[in-house]
Amino acid sequence: MKYTKSEKYNTPTLQKKIMGPNPIKLEEELLINHKIPEGAVVCDLGSGQGLTSVFLAKEYGFTVYAADLWSNPEDNRRFFDDMGLDKNQIIPVKADATDLQFDKGFFDAVISTDSYNYFGRDEHYLDDKLLPFLKNGGYIYIAIPGMKKDCHDKLPPELLLSWTPEQLDYMHDIDYWTEIVNKCKGAEVISVKEMESNEEVWSDWLMQDNEYAVGDRKAMESGGGKYLNFISMILRKK
Ligand SMILES: C[S@@+](CC[C@H](N)C(=O)[O-])C[C@H]1O[C@@H](n2cnc3c(N)ncnc32)[C@H](O)[C@@H]1O
Repeated sequence: MKYTKSEKYNTPTLQKKIMGPNPIKLEEELLINHKIPEGAVVCDLGSGQGLTSVFLAKEYGFTVYAADLWSNPEDNRRFFDDMGLDKNQIIPVKADATDLQFDKGFFDAVISTDSYNYFGRDEHYLDDKLLPFLKNGGYIYIAIPGMKKDCHDKLPPELLLSWTPEQLDYMHDIDYWTEIVNKCKGAEVISVKEMESNEEVWSDWLMQDNEYAVGDRKAMESGGGKYLNFISMILRKK
C-alpha cells in the first residue's frame, strides 16, 4: 500500500523513536476509512515514546492522551514540545492499561499499535478494564504483531533465534484473537483481519541500530518472517 501520511515520519531522527516494526505505517493502514470524528479525544494506549501519538494528533486532528507504562512521560512531553504540538492537544500519561485512572466514558476512541498483545490477552480485559473509559458508540482500533498460525507447541527454530517461548507467547493468530474479542459483551466486533503491512514495516525496524532491532534480525534474516503477520482488530462499544 502507499503510506502517504507516514512518509514524512521516515526520517532517521523520528524512526529512532519506534520500538518495533514501523508503528506509523501500521497505524496508517489501521485507520483507513476510520470512523473517529476529527477533534475526538483518543487514548493512544501503549504509546511508547510517543511517535504514534504525534502522528494521531498531527495527521488526524485528534486530542491524544499518550498512555504508556514503560516510557517516561516527561521525555515524551519534551518530544511533543519539539514537534510543535500544543499541550492541550497531546498529553503524556504514565498509565497501566490494566488499571486506567481516567474518568468513566472519557474517550471517544482508543487506538493501540504494537502493544495490545502485552495486556489484552485476558478475555475479561475489554469488558472490565478498557470499555468503562470509552463513550458508548466509541471505537477501539488495534494493530498487533501476530502469527499466521499459532505454533506454540512446536516453535520453529528460526523464531527461537531472536525470541524466547515466553516472548513468543505475546504473538497469536487470528483465530486466537477472534475468540478473545468475541467473548466481549460490551462491544460489537467489527473486524479481525490480517494486515497488508508486513515486510515494509519490518524492514524499517530492522535497519535501526538499537539492541532490540539488532536482536530481531537473527530470526528475520533466517526466514522467521514467514510465520509472522500483523493483525488489526476494530470494535465498537455498544
Ligand atoms: C513494542 S512497544 C510499542 C510502543 C509504541 N506503540 C510503538 O509502536 O512505538 C510496547 C509498548 O507497550 C507498552 N505496555 C506494555 N504493557 C503495558 C501496560 N500494561 N499498560 C500500558 N502500556 C503497556 C510498553 O510501555 C511499550 O511502550
